[in-house]
Amino acid sequence: MADERLIVALDFHTFDDVKNLVDALGSGVNFYKVGMELFYSVGAPVVEWLKSQDKKIFLDLKLHDIPNTVSGGLCSLMNLGADILNVHASGGFTMMKTAAEALQKESAARGIARPKLIAITVLTSINQSEWCGALKISEQVVAFAKSAKAAGLDGVVASPQEAKLIREACGEKFLIVTPGIRPAGADINDQQRISTPTAALANGATHLVIGRPIRAAKNPREAAEKILAEMRGV
Ligand code: C5P
Repeated sequence: MADERLIVALDFHTFDDVKNLVDALGSGVNFYKVGMELFYSVGAPVVEWLKSQDKKIFLDLKLHDIPNTVSGGLCSLMNLGADILNVHASGGFTMMKTAAEALQKESAARGIARPKLIAITVLTSINQSEWCGALKISEQVVAFAKSAKAAGLDGVVASPQEAKLIREACGEKFLIVTPGIRPAGADINDQQRISTPTAALANGATHLVIGRPIRAAKNPREAAEKILAEMRGV
């Protein structure tokens, strides 16, 4: 049984690359992230193919617009059958609430499972030196997370370094999806707000989004297995 706390990011622009990686990872990985790069180049067929392989999908398109437009966009995306969709929390409480309600209403009307809806807090690539908000980044992240919860969303995307504060503020059931994960000893060296899998999970992350440490490995399956073994310890 695959550990569905691991979501592997398919940041490719060809379908063949996707098929090669998913085949290579096999039954050990069950959850994949489809983001802008892949969706804008390959589109819906890649989501349909992943579904046909019984994989779960986090469709990471980070919607950010007025409430009516975001709600309509999410209802269109719902047709694809992704398990998680997302919006930017900076789009505001009303946008998030309207979006959550629209998904609820639309899925009930169609008799299908409602996808989870989560909110991007502050991108993990932003660090304190380029941040120009009035609050500290961590304070802003928690404020966004509380707002997302109050708006009826299922969780947030946040840096693993803020997972603990979010867990404390938003309770046990709230999803905390953390990108910016680097296994100890990884040779990809970006110095942003990142953590190891063990630290992220220990701090309350429910899902780890990992891309380059697996995709760029000489043997992606071995890299994924190593990460999964590390995760089993938490
Ligand atoms: O860096 P990596 O390849 O593991 O990234 C996987 C996904 O996590 C990317 O698709 C990106 O959207 C997100 N990411 C992030 N913040 C980072 C690094 C990656 O949000 N610092």
